[in-house]
Amino acid sequence: DASDIEKGTYPHYMLKEIDEQPLVMRKIIQAYQDINGKLSVDSQIIDAVTEADRLYIIACGTSYHAGLVGKQLIEKLAKIPVEVHVSSEFVYNMPLLSEKPLFIFISQSGETADSRAVLVKVKELGYKTLTMTNVPGSTLSREADYTLLLHAGPEIAVASTKAYTAQIAVLAILADVAAKSRGFSEDFDLVHELGLVANAMEVLCGSKEEIEQMAYDYLTVTRNCFFIGRSMDYFVCLEGALKLKEISYIQAEGFAGGELKHGTIALIEDGTPVVALATQKDVNWSIRGNVKEVVTRGANPCVISMKGLNEEGDRFVIPHVHELLTPLISVVPLQLLAYYAALHRGCDVDKPRNLAKSVTVE
Ligand code: G6P
Repeated sequence: DASDIEKGTYPHYMLKEIDEQPLVMRKIIQAYQDINGKLSVDSQIIDAVTEADRLYIIACGTSYHAGLVGKQLIEKLAKIPVEVHVSSEFVYNMPLLSEKPLFIFISQSGETADSRAVLVKVKELGYKTLTMTNVPGSTLSREADYTLLLHAGPEIAVASTKAYTAQIAVLAILADVAAKSRGFSEDFDLVHELGLVANAMEVLCGSKEEIEQMAYDYLTVTRNCFFIGRSMDYFVCLEGALKLKEISYIQAEGFAGGELKHGTIALIEDGTPVVALATQKDVNWSIRGNVKEVVTRGANPCVISMKGLNEEGDRFVIPHVHELLTPLISVVPLQLLAYYAALHRGCDVDKPRNLAKSVTVE
């Protein structure tokens, strides 16, 4: 209950929850470490994951965006094919399923009706189910065969922040433990890498003034805003755009860098803000090209790059972390950007119009 949880010195729950992210990362590492400090996940769950021929991630909203990152982590580390579906579509338009699917439901609240509808349906079909949720004892947790907890602590602000990063961290742990049990990614030290992520998040949470100034410069008067990125960055762009839409009501869209020219570039006018993420070495060159394309059309570029890939003129540089884990930190400036944009525009940050924290109707 919101009234039970103190905001402390924070003006809004959202800001408090953004700031809690480094702590949540450390809690998650602890919660999933065994007595020897090795990451460990319930062996029944690892068996279910490694015996499946394909994983189906089912989720809505921000949790869906975490699922998109999760697919990359699981496929790259554990080499198990993954599909990610929006719950409300999956239930009425089910794809052809593989022979041995495992369904993974990602839900902060564990109460989302659209996701539950899928759970009920796939259970009827006799398939195994795993819920990743922040709320022990929630409906989706009780009704699934297995549960993995997010350990993010109560999330009160309607716009999800720490649950998103917690979801990605737990997906990374699931991917890593599954990978190791299959004999892959032996030299990947996720405990160490997540520790570095927590430190990087702390640095970012200490950069509020700089990000508030960015929100002021780019988002005070604009009607719209585009977010572009490639590979991992693309999925974070979807989430960054959603955050901005949800709380500031600025029309925002996340695009794959290479797709922009196939239509959306028509919407770039003089001064249109385009936030570009550049945290992926392999595509750094091509996202830089996409930035040039929009600048030629008059866009006001805001490049957020990762240390080591940064170039002159970038607006903000985030600390370096492992390439697979960049979403955990690149999302932080986007969360703060949305927060300050909403604040400057006089919006109700914690309770945006028309939105509910959890949607319990289909
Ligand atoms: C609502 C919230 C979103 C959230 C989505 C899924 O629409 O406003 O912030 O991402 O539900 O919620 P869940 O609890 O299933 O993660």
